[in-house]
Amino acid sequence: MKNDLIHPLAFVPTMGALHAGHQSLIEIAKSKSDEVVVSIFVNPLQFENKEDLAQYPRSIESDITKAESSGATYVWAPTFEEIYPDKPEIIPAGKIGNIFEGVHRFGHFDGVMTVVKRLFDLVKPEFAVFGEKDFQQLFLIKQMVRELSIPVKIIEAKIIREDDGLAMSSRNIRLSVSDRARATIISKALTEAAMSKNPRSTLNKVLASEPSFQIDYAEIIDSDSFEIADKSTANPRAIVAGWLSGVRLIDNMAMGTKS
Ligand code: PAJ
Repeated sequence: MKNDLIHPLAFVPTMGALHAGHQSLIEIAKSKSDEVVVSIFVNPLQFENKEDLAQYPRSIESDITKAESSGATYVWAPTFEEIYPDKPEIIPAGKIGNIFEGVHRFGHFDGVMTVVKRLFDLVKPEFAVFGEKDFQQLFLIKQMVRELSIPVKIIEAKIIREDDGLAMSSRNIRLSVSDRARATIISKALTEAAMSKNPRSTLNKVLASEPSFQIDYAEIIDSDSFEIADKSTANPRAIVAGWLSGVRLIDNMAMGTKS
């Protein structure tokens, strides 16, 4: 992709299967620049589970329509060879890449850092928009941009939810009708924890009321360091991940206020 003439660009990297969450990122990008590039690339390097990669939903035609209707000027769906013409140089996500999501998805964040760095090198955006939905990913991308002095401004976008609170995700369509109903326990637990004097115990108590939800982790962390939060933490955030009948769901929420 050649973009010498069209700076400044705002960029929204995605893996496709676009929903209103992605569309909100594209709208934010549009508010930053008239030129909005949306990439659609299902990056094999970040899938530690090959079955998950094979099952990842693909819907390029409707993705293009949704991206354009939200303000995208370029929808770019590169091939594997365009992104990785040579054996990729893996960008390690570091210590925080190996906790929480990193424990359950070994190597995942190294794959994310590697593709995001490649995408930034190719697109050369001035702004790039990422969702708080993937809070640890957002934290690590901001860290990488700082450490490698990449000249891009990272814009953070709020989580878009269904009417019943479930965070929008490309994986939600894989839930059965009964699991879709059960999945609301996650946002319910986060909301109750956010209003509670003891968020950690409220979070775990509410999640435990839905035994079909198998928890990978449910913790209150310090948003600024990703360390376990304590009473003195200025910006605590609850992070949750787990499984409902083979579908993995993640979510998070600032504690103290609802976000
Ligand atoms: P993907 O899961 O397609 O998500 C693309 C972007 O949309 C991410 O920044 C993600 O946080 C954001 N997003 C997803 N669901 C959202 C929701 N409900 N509300 C707000 N934002 C939401 O994240 C990836 O792709 C990949 O790891 C990627 C960064 C593209 C690298 O391959």
